[in-house]
Amino acid sequence: MKVYILTLFPEMFRPVLESSILKRARERGLIAVTLVNIRDFAHDAHKTVDDYPYGGGPGMVMKPEPVYEAVEWVEKDLGRKPYVILLTPQGQKFTGAVARRLACLRDMTLVAGHYEGFDERIRYLADAEMSIGDYVLTGGELPAMVVLDAVSRFIPGVLGDEESAMEDSFSDGLLEGPQYTRPPEYRGMRVPDVLLTGDHRAVERWRRKASLRRTLERRPDLLKEACLTYEDRRLLEEVMKERQKETQE
Ligand code: ADE
Repeated sequence: MKVYILTLFPEMFRPVLESSILKRARERGLIAVTLVNIRDFAHDAHKTVDDYPYGGGPGMVMKPEPVYEAVEWVEKDLGRKPYVILLTPQGQKFTGAVARRLACLRDMTLVAGHYEGFDERIRYLADAEMSIGDYVLTGGELPAMVVLDAVSRFIPGVLGDEESAMEDSFSDGLLEGPQYTRPPEYRGMRVPDVLLTGDHRAVERWRRKASLRRTLERRPDLLKEACLTYEDRRLLEEVMKERQKETQE
């Protein structure tokens, strides 16, 4: 996937792009990221990219011209209309399901805003507006990194073991259950016996049940949307009975 990031702070992205899985994905040619400095498209000698809001009020607003021209540059570089995503707290909520859908795109252009907001006309450029949560950050850079990271994990080959993106929390609408590694006992805390048995069917059943239990306990809202099989519903009933027993004890 070709990714363009339009930002006033390209240097913020370099450590993220040059570390760990994103670095490896770039080296393997699975994603190509181009950082575009919006300031390079400013018109005046001072490289102004923001201005006072019409009608008054606090803060500055990002001017439309540099962002429009930066997107036009991307279109020329790409050779077709880019898919433009504006990062803003007013956007659609970015979720795992959205990330999975975006991973199918050939290209993605993330526009990270700064200052108090965008001139409204910048929104006409966007195919989508995304928010990473109900809080306001100082800019769209961290949200752009979040989107890039979460989307990359769904691009085939980016994760060493392709299964891991499938089994992660949220990928099937449920939270991931507990995981253990060696040693089998640490400071009196034991790994559940079933995981040490080598009985794959029993392990799978235990994992599914643990995932359902964790979702029920921490995010019951997710269960309403999750795609549950007949067996899942049976396991969930078992979990609910166990929990009832635990509260009575
Ligand atoms: N810019 C500032 N806060 C943001 C948020 N929560 N999501 C996306 N972009 C933002």
